[in-house]
Amino acid sequence: MKTKNISVIIAIVALFLFESCNNAQVQKDNTDQETYDKVDALLAQMTLQEKVGQMLNVGMSSLLKGPFYSTRDSLVFDSAKVQEILVKYGAGSVQNLSTFPPSTKQWRYYISKIQKIVKTETRLGIPVLYGIDAAHGANYTAGSVLFPHEINVAASFNTALAKQMAEVTSYELKASAIPWNFAPDLDVARHTMWGRIYESFGEDTYVVEQMGVAMLEGAQGDNPAAYNKTVSCAKHFLGYGASYNGKDRAPVVMSENYLRQVLLPPFKTAIENGLLNIMISSGAMNGVPSHIDHKLITKLLKEELNFKGFVISDWNDIDNLVSVHKVAANEREAVKMSVLAGLDMCMEPYDASFAKHLISLVEDDEVPMSRIDDAVRRILYVKHKAGIFDDTMFEEHEYTEFASAKSDSLNLAIAEETLTLLKNKDDILPLNKNSKVLITGVASNSLNYLNGGWSRTWSGQETKFNDLDKLTILQAVQEKIGASHVTFAQGSGYVDGNFIAEAVKKARNVDVIVACIGEKPSTEKPSDIDELDLPDIQLEMVKQLAATGKPVVLVMVQGRPRIIRRIEPLADGILMAFLPGNEGGKAIANTLYGDVSPSGKLPYTYPQHSGGIWTYDHQLSDERDVNFGLKGFTPQYEFGYGLSYTTFEYSDITISSDSVSMSDKLTIEFEITNTGEVKGKEAALLFVSDEVATISPAVKQLKRFTKVELEPNESKKVNFELSVKDLMFVDRNNKWIAEPGYFTLKVADKNVRFYLYN
Ligand code: BGC
Repeated sequence: MKTKNISVIIAIVALFLFESCNNAQVQKDNTDQETYDKVDALLAQMTLQEKVGQMLNVGMSSLLKGPFYSTRDSLVFDSAKVQEILVKYGAGSVQNLSTFPPSTKQWRYYISKIQKIVKTETRLGIPVLYGIDAAHGANYTAGSVLFPHEINVAASFNTALAKQMAEVTSYELKASAIPWNFAPDLDVARHTMWGRIYESFGEDTYVVEQMGVAMLEGAQGDNPAAYNKTVSCAKHFLGYGASYNGKDRAPVVMSENYLRQVLLPPFKTAIENGLLNIMISSGAMNGVPSHIDHKLITKLLKEELNFKGFVISDWNDIDNLVSVHKVAANEREAVKMSVLAGLDMCMEPYDASFAKHLISLVEDDEVPMSRIDDAVRRILYVKHKAGIFDDTMFEEHEYTEFASAKSDSLNLAIAEETLTLLKNKDDILPLNKNSKVLITGVASNSLNYLNGGWSRTWSGQETKFNDLDKLTILQAVQEKIGASHVTFAQGSGYVDGNFIAEAVKKARNVDVIVACIGEKPSTEKPSDIDELDLPDIQLEMVKQLAATGKPVVLVMVQGRPRIIRRIEPLADGILMAFLPGNEGGKAIANTLYGDVSPSGKLPYTYPQHSGGIWTYDHQLSDERDVNFGLKGFTPQYEFGYGLSYTTFEYSDITISSDSVSMSDKLTIEFEITNTGEVKGKEAALLFVSDEVATISPAVKQLKRFTKVELEPNESKKVNFELSVKDLMFVDRNNKWIAEPGYFTLKVADKNVRFYLYN
C-alpha cells in the first residue's frame, strides 16, 4: 500500500507547479527586445481604429465579388468591400479560401495584391498576416503534397515523421507566400465519436504533446520568417475534442484537475517551445463558452503559462456567443465579453462588424485601451516574427522542391509507417502477387476517401481538383500486380448504393477479396454522426462477400474507429489505413503485397460496442462488469495495438533500481529482437501504472515511446529515463503532485515494479 506524507507532497508540488506570473501583458525577454522596440514604436503611432483593425481577421471571400460562399475558380476583388474592410477598418489579417485550390503563382498574386493595397492605401501600411488551414500539407494549394492526417502520424509513433511532414508543409505554404498555418491540432481526442478525431493525434496526452512539439519544430522552428517556415497556430483551446457526447463544438463537462492533467500539457509544452498563436475552442466548458472564459484565456493561458503570442477566435465565434451559446444578447456585448476575457484577434469571416463594435466599446469606456494595446502588441510581435514586414517575402523565390519527387517519397514513407495491421489470421497477409484479387468497396477507387476533409476544398469531397498522377487503392494494386490479376466492383456506396450482387458475382472468380470500407470525407459539423457502427450497407457488403467462402481482407479508410464487431469475425485480415493521403493507395498496395511490413499502432481505443466507448487510461472502476468482476473493458482493439509481418521479442528488461527517491532518475532498459523473417519497425511503448493514489489512478498511462527498425535476428537495446515528473498527477487542489508508493512499468508483455520514496 502506498503511504501518504502530505508535507513532502507539498514540497514536491512547489517544485513542479506551473510557473505563474502576475502580468498578462506580453513578457519581454532580452532576445526579443529589438522586436518589442519596433512593436512599441509602431503602437505609439496608431489610432484606436488602426489598433482595432489589427484585431480583425476576415475570410478572403469577404473581399471578393459575389456572395461569400460563391463557387469560384478565380478571384475578383470587390473594390467597395476592399475599401471598407482593408482600408477603412484596416483588417490586420485575412485567411483561407476553401472553394478551389489556387496555384502557388495565383496565391502569390492574390496575397501580394492585398499587401499592396494595405501598403499604399493605409496610413501605416502594416502588412496583412495571411492564414490558412494546412492540416495535412498545403492542402489548399493546387498540386501540393497531401500528407496523411495527424491521426495517421500518431499511429506511426515516430515523431521524426511529424517534423518532416510539417517542414514540407511550411515550405509549400511559403511557396505561396502564406506565412501562418492554423495547425497543429493539439486537441486530445477523448471521444471516439468526434468527427475531427482524424485531425488530432488521438486520445493520449503524451502522444499529442510529443507529436505536437515535433510538428511545431518542423513548421515554425527557431525562425518562422525563414523561407521554409511558418507561424504555427495550435488549436483549439481547450477541450474541443472532449465534448460529453462526441459531437463537434458540443459542450464539455470537466473538472479542473482533469483539464490540467489530460488536456493542457500539449499546449503548455508547445508554448515552452515557442508557439506563437493559439485558437480558442468553439465549445463551452462547464457552461462557459471558451471565448468569454477569462479564467481560461487570461489567467491560465496568458498569466500562468506565460503565452506571449496572440489568441485568435475560431470561425465566427463572437456571433455564436449570441446565436448559439446564448450568453450575450447582441454582438456588441459578445465582442465586449470576449475581448475582456483576453481574446486578441477575432476571426470574423464575413465583415468588419467586430471592429465597429470594439471601437465604440473603447470610446464608451467599456473596454480599456490597455486591453487593446496588449492585444495589438501581441499581434504585431507575431507579425514581426513572421517576417512579413520584409517585402521581399512576397517576391517570387525559387521553390523548386514544391511537390517534388523527394517530397512524394517522404509522403509515401510516412503513409506506409502509419498503416496499422489489426488482424492477420493464418498469415493471409501479405497477399501473393500471383493470386487473383477483387478490389471493392466505397473507398477502393477514390482519392477523396484517402485524403479526407481539408483536401483542396473544405469538405474534401470535390473530385475535380484531385491530382491525376496519384493512385487510388485499385490503381495502385493494378500497377503492382498487373491489371489482369485485378477485378473491380464498386460494392456499395457510403450509406446507400447497393451494388453488392455484382461484387459477389465477381468474387466467385478470384482468390481473395480486398474490401475497402470506411468514411466519406467530412469536416467539422458535417462530420457529426449518431451511430458509430459502420453504415449498414457496408457491413452487409462484407457479410455477403464473406459468404462466398473467399478470404476477405478489410482495408479501413476512416478517421474514426467505426464499429465492425459484426464483420470482424468474417475477415481474415484487417488493415487500418486511417486517412493516409495522396500516397495512401500506393502505401496500402505496398503493404498488402508485403513490400513493406506494417508498423503502425492504434493511437486510440477501438470500441467494440457503441455503449463501450473508453480511453485506454480509464480508471479500474470502469472495468467492472455485470458479474461484479473486472472484465468490463472490452474494446475491439486496445490503444497501442498493431501487428507486423514479423515478430518482436522483448527481453532483458532491467531498471536502474527497484526503489527510487523523488529526486532520482529511473532508467528502464530492454532489448527488442526481430524474431521473424522480414525486416520490420517496432514502436516500443512504455506505460506506467500508479498502484494506489489519492485520486483513483488510470490503469496505465503512456510515458515514453520510440520506434526501432530491425533486420531479422537483429536486436537493439532501448532505454528510457523517467523522473518524478512522470509519476505525478493533478490532485484535488489542481496541483501536480507525486505520492510515494509502488508503480509498475509495462513494456509489451513485460512488467517491472518499483517503489518511489520521499
Ligand atoms: C475550425 C478551425 C479552423 C477555422 C478556420 C473553424 O471552423 O474549427 O479548426 O482553423 O475554422 O478555417
